[in-house]
Amino acid sequence: MHGNRPVTRRFGAAPGKLRGLRVLSTILLGAGVVCATALAAPGANSSAGAARDAAHAQYVGAETCASCHEEVANAFATNPHAKMALLHGNAKGITCENCHGAGSAHVAAGGDPTKIFNPAKATAGEVDAKCLSCHAGAHPDFLRSPHAKANVSCIGCHDIHGSKQEALLKAPQPQLCFQCHNDQRAQFNMPFHHRVNEGLIQCSDCHDPHGTFGNNNLRSTADQNAICTKCHTDVRGPFVYEHAPVKAEGCMSCHTPHGSQNARLLNMPNIAVLCNQCHSRVAAGTVHGQGAGSDSSEPCTTCHTYIHGSNINAAFLR
Ligand code: HEC
Ligand code: HEC
Ligand code: HEC
Ligand code: HEC
Ligand code: HEC
Ligand code: HEC
Ligand code: HEC
Ligand code: HEC
Ligand code: HEC
Ligand code: HEC
Repeated sequence: MHGNRPVTRRFGAAPGKLRGLRVLSTILLGAGVVCATALAAPGANSSAGAARDAAHAQYVGAETCASCHEEVANAFATNPHAKMALLHGNAKGITCENCHGAGSAHVAAGGDPTKIFNPAKATAGEVDAKCLSCHAGAHPDFLRSPHAKANVSCIGCHDIHGSKQEALLKAPQPQLCFQCHNDQRAQFNMPFHHRVNEGLIQCSDCHDPHGTFGNNNLRSTADQNAICTKCHTDVRGPFVYEHAPVKAEGCMSCHTPHGSQNARLLNMPNIAVLCNQCHSRVAAGTVHGQGAGSDSSEPCTTCHTYIHGSNINAAFLR
């Protein structure tokens, strides 16, 4: 919340003192210039013009905005961002202008749309910079996420003024994600799937759309399996007898996360074939008699029931 420079610094200075006020106006100007520089980056469209004007603009306060944008302002009362008015004792009511930039030029020109920052007309980079000026703390990895790199900005998923969803989302999950991720829509329609469409779990239980250090936006966890074992605690272990690939290769060496044609979300239709990727010689050997268990008629797991590991039996029979 400390990218909110005008407001933060203003109340960092001793209130009511002349010196504090001078500091304030210097910083407000400074903030405008920084803003204009950021917005004039290559690829900027008409909003660069707005930014240039905004550089010379002053903050007028939310009540002034409300005098012309009554509907938007009234609806804003229930917006989580209305809390910005409480930040650092925001007496001047700088809420709208925290996102739209200082508005005096826009107001003086009778509402000239080219003299105010409108995120809907800005580039993804401009929008992200604006939002991250406050939200970088909670979402530090956004700019290196696949979404940011593909120019899906904050308002690709969030709708500040129009949302009726939690977290100001444009649409509820998973519909929001399926708008762009059609392949995954198909996966969650497969016969066996994590019940995301049914609302039992969400894409964001496993992914952080704001980016992570891991691949595939997967939530960062202590070990690769923790994404799964936070819910599937019974297979987490540690076990006296570990099945090596569970810990080494991870859950994905046998399962697929979204949906599958195969029961238990296995990534192969036939369990013997799945096991024999690694065990062909063992399974066909003397332990199982004349190749017992190596044909597909009897799934290996009818005997090797505790396939994720056991505390009792080294062959995971019990
Ligand atoms: C004097 C009346 C007036 C005041 C005060 C005013 N606006 Fe506007 N605003 C307008 C008009 C008129 C438009 C243009 C509407 C249109 O063309 O569709 C507009 C458009 C906008 C737009 C959209 C710009 C675009 O690109 O289409 C934004 C954002 C905006 N105003 C924000 C603000 C904010 C923030 C404040 C307070 C700092 C504010 N306005 C104060 C009259 C005003
Ligand atoms: C948290 C950032 C944020 C705050 C705070 C904010 N807005 Fe906006 N505003 C946006 C974004 C983003 C858009 C672009 C359209 C959208 O995504 O809703 C926008 C669009 C607008 C528009 C254009 C509307 C349209 O339908 O095209 C107006 C007018 C506007 N805002 C006025 C205001 C006023 C007045 C306030 C204060 C009561 C305010 N905004 C506070 C982010 C904000
Ligand atoms: C690809 C879609 C997507 C994009 C892009 C996106 N978000 Fe989100 N955001 C979500 C979803 C889904 C949630 C709710 C689930 C969650 O908390 O992860 C959320 C939740 C949030 C929350 C509330 C909970 C929290 O984690 O703090 C904030 C704040 C937020 N987003 C800000 C941003 C900002 C700022 C940006 C741009 C820098 C952004 N988001 C970009 C999808 C997105
Ligand atoms: C001046 C600082 C500031 C800016 C700029 C800002 N936000 Fe926020 N945002 C906040 C505050 C404060 C909250 C409320 C946090 C809380 O509820 O504790 C918030 C809350 C949110 C939430 C969570 C809503 C919920 O239901 O929990 C989302 C999503 C969000 N902001 C997205 C955005 C996006 C997208 C932008 C850019 C268009 C943006 N914010 C710009 C300060 C800011
Ligand atoms: C506005 C379109 C859009 C929306 C909405 C959207 N995404 Fe994305 N997403 C993309 C694009 C574009 C990419 C990068 C290109 C790609 O990998 O497909 C991406 C990448 C990803 C990746 C990384 C893929 C990889 O190969 O590394 C994941 C995971 C992801 N999105 C999940 C989500 C989730 C979960 C949601 C919903 C909360 C969501 N997305 C919403 C467009 C979107
Ligand atoms: C149970 C956890 C989980 C859930 C729920 C989940 N994912 Fe994934 N997702 C993963 C894992 C794990 C991967 C990496 C797959 C791999 O490494 O083979 C992945 C990969 C992806 C990718 C990269 C391309 C691909 O398919 O490999 C996208 C895009 C994606 N997920 C989108 C989504 C969307 C959209 C949703 C919700 C509709 C969702 N995921 C729900 C765990 C999950
Ligand atoms: C947010 C909790 C959650 C997370 C995270 C999660 N799962 Fe699940 N998983 C479930 C639930 C709940 C079910 C049961 C779904 C049902 O009854 O349809 C399930 C079902 C399964 C099944 C099928 C079980 C059966 O009886 O058919 C497998 C296999 C599975 N998950 C593997 C994984 C893997 C692998 C991961 C990590 C990529 C993972 N899960 C992450 C909640 C989760
Ligand atoms: C070596 C392959 C393999 C690995 C690795 C693996 N599984 Fe499994 N898993 C299976 C097989 C095979 C089944 C089906 C067992 C059956 O049919 O009785 C299964 C079944 C499941 C089930 C269904 C309920 C149950 O316990 O039988 C869940 C949930 C599950 N696995 C989660 C996970 C998770 C989470 C991980 C990672 C920590 C993981 N699996 C790693 C092979 C594996
Ligand atoms: C990705 C490779 C891989 C897959 C797939 C796999 N395993 Fe394993 N399994 C191993 C490794 C590696 C060991 C440890 C071997 C050792 O210690 O010599 C092991 C050990 C075992 C053991 C214990 C062996 C012993 O010496 O006591 C049994 C039983 C076993 N696996 C059965 C299965 C079954 C049944 C499946 C199919 C559901 C399966 N495995 C799938 C790699 C795999
Ligand atoms: C009819 C029950 C049964 C079936 C089906 C079965 N096994 Fe076994 N398996 C056993 C028994 C019993 C042992 C010996 C356990 C012991 O040494 O205590 C064993 C041992 C093993 C071992 C350890 C061998 C060694 O020498 O270290 C592996 C690996 C193994 N089985 C893999 C498989 C695979 C892969 C399949 C499916 C293709 C399979 N089993 C099917 C009962 C079965």
